Amino acid sequence: MNREDFPMLDNNIIYFDNGATTWKPKEVLDAITSYYTKFTANAHRGDYNISLLVDEAYENTRDLIKEFINAKSRKEIVFTSGTTDSLNTIANGYFKNKLVAGDEIVITYAEHASNVLPWFKLAKTNNVKIVFCPLDENYSVTLENLKKVITPRTRLISLAHITNVIGDIRPIKEITEFAHQNNILVCVDGAQSVPHIKTDVQDLDVDFLAFSGHKMMGPTGIGVLYAKENLMEEIDPVNLGGGMNETFDTVDEVYLKPIPTRLEAGTPNIEGVVGLGAAIRYLQKIGLDKIHEHELELRSYMISKLSEIDFITIYNKNSNSGIISFNVSDVFPQDVSVYLNKYHVCVRAGNHCAKLLKNEINEKNTIRISFYVYNTKEEIDRVVDLLKDKNRIINEMI
Ligand code: ALA
Repeated sequence: MNREDFPMLDNNIIYFDNGATTWKPKEVLDAITSYYTKFTANAHRGDYNISLLVDEAYENTRDLIKEFINAKSRKEIVFTSGTTDSLNTIANGYFKNKLVAGDEIVITYAEHASNVLPWFKLAKTNNVKIVFCPLDENYSVTLENLKKVITPRTRLISLAHITNVIGDIRPIKEITEFAHQNNILVCVDGAQSVPHIKTDVQDLDVDFLAFSGHKMMGPTGIGVLYAKENLMEEIDPVNLGGGMNETFDTVDEVYLKPIPTRLEAGTPNIEGVVGLGAAIRYLQKIGLDKIHEHELELRSYMISKLSEIDFITIYNKNSNSGIISFNVSDVFPQDVSVYLNKYHVCVRAGNHCAKLLKNEINEKNTIRISFYVYNTKEEIDRVVDLLKDKNRIINEMI
């Protein structure tokens, strides 16, 4: 799939760590260069031509994102530095002011740190209770299991749409339907899903969604916070400063701008927004359905090959995304990663910031492979070839 668009491929690297970050197509790099060579200026502050060009590019990306995730209004899209920033803003700007002692937040042991630690903090500051939804035999969330942990005090369910180690797709639409019948809000960590599957916030009816630009071919340091307009209105700005205020005089005379600008204090990450816009246009050209289909094809190909190796344990055979997590028996996952690196293969080893998952899979660390559009079956063949000789792995890593 358009491999020639990705300059990183010229380095002869097999990159299987797309869950961590993705490579950028030339169109994204060109858009960023164009901002720095043709219209460098601040946003929302100048009356001269190049500054107006920045405003246009910046706000066009907001419209593009609105369309990309099918939000109702551009007011529902706020730029952040990434998923982590978005989730922390949701926790500290909204829920911190809404939750009282005894309220409950439901998460799972499979969540990434950024969908755990902001809620753990509220457990301390607001005395709320963190409740873990049990996972099924595939480490997936089912509505049935979720219902078991819901109580009259549940105020929020916060889940990844696709988890970053197991790679299962959660039934978000069913979950929001049930949650809303019970006056519970739903927050979705879309870091591993928005880049890979079509996300329609109106169809899913999610209340909050967080995602990052760099995992979807955009630059690092840019992300998105989506919230339904009525909820966005109630997010208390965590950052205050330039750009987000209308006027101020005394302590009691501070007037803020409307959403979404109110939640974007300071000079924004303009190159990030411009690059993200180009990345979304690139993804739209390929189509999310095609991307998902390609990843599933790679996934089933690699699973069938790895399954033939008896010293490899795969933890997520039944997941339906481009993430495969496994271990080589008796070999420390990081050693496998270092061994593969000798052959210019990039995989991630460790706990992948999902430090509670060990409670479910009984393994602290795994090797994770995560695909994207530019990966191929030939690359898989090469990696499987490197993995199938355990003695070689052991000998070469010493
Ligand atoms: N959250 C990223 C990952 O899963 C960094 O690798």
